[in-house]
Amino acid sequence: MTALRPTRRHLLAAAPAFMAGAGLAACTPQATREKHTPKSKDSAMPDPHNNRPLIIAHRGAPGYLPEHTVAGYDMAIRMGADYIEPDLVFTKDGHLIVRHDHYLSDTTDVADHPEFADRKTEKTGHEGADWFTEDFTLKEIKTLRARQAFAARSHAADGKFEILTFAQMIAVAKGRTSLSGNPIGIYPETKLPSYFKSLGFDFEKAMMDELANAGWDRPGSPVFIQSFEDGILRSLRGKTELPLIMLLEKADGVSMKDIATYANGIGPSKALLATMEGQSTGMVEAAHAHGLKVHPWTFRSDHLPGVFPNAQAEFDFFFDLGIDGVFTDFANDAYAALLARAARKG
Ligand code: G3P
Ligand code: CA
Repeated sequence: MTALRPTRRHLLAAAPAFMAGAGLAACTPQATREKHTPKSKDSAMPDPHNNRPLIIAHRGAPGYLPEHTVAGYDMAIRMGADYIEPDLVFTKDGHLIVRHDHYLSDTTDVADHPEFADRKTEKTGHEGADWFTEDFTLKEIKTLRARQAFAARSHAADGKFEILTFAQMIAVAKGRTSLSGNPIGIYPETKLPSYFKSLGFDFEKAMMDELANAGWDRPGSPVFIQSFEDGILRSLRGKTELPLIMLLEKADGVSMKDIATYANGIGPSKALLATMEGQSTGMVEAAHAHGLKVHPWTFRSDHLPGVFPNAQAEFDFFFDLGIDGVFTDFANDAYAALLARAARKG
């Protein structure tokens, strides 16, 4: 490994304000592909397929732009992401769209559409009235625009970007290359598969059909599939060789031996990996002992746990635990931390 010498690309990775400006100009998949696909490999960054943690762009680049948008995904790619993450939910007419929640008020301008005022309703399992994706056709969803979900983050791009279908999101990734010189991968999450099944939607078929359409249903495709529900992963295990990741919010009742029968890794809350005093809980070692990858979430540079003075210190701490990837809202900070780490190892 050569010693780290900052290049213009490195500086861009650490200059989010500049990149946010570029992101606002990039609104269409075709335009962004032509303008921003990296042309050459960053020789200072170790290859992600050679034992360095993956940078998984959690919902795109929501630290800077509305989540799950073309501009957000493109920004994350320019910032050094290896994978971009779509959370998936259904529309009324059975299309998979990219939203973190099936309620729409947090991340879209649906409340500003008087034509949908009577669509606001209450549903079991959700606190308060809202608008829900399963009550809207795709054509109606396409009239909405994305908004930043976090009050304290920039809202400059609110109202500018459309809601993506899963097929459109895959198209963003296809043909893009990471700063490390590899194809950009996708990391789809099945949101509420049991709930959508109760409404008559077949999550497995809809998702796998889209992956097949893209030619990304085969072993070796740059795809991880994740879920908080083990049922859909157990079922998928018999149908696909794509790597499956079991998301974990709690450690209670977790058996790595059992997870290893149907999944290839775990996606734990980072709080499950270390104590407040900074001691490993042993979860990384336990997962690795069963051949499971460990991809914790969510690394947010603007919501750092108090024990860390800055984002790099947090990333370094978790990299030292031996994790295999990070879900982060700030791909540029993960990239900078990995570059600094590579430079130190020389
Ligand atoms: O999918 C990993 C992580 O994204 C889980 O949290 O709620 O942001 O989907 P969430
Ligand atoms: Ca997710």
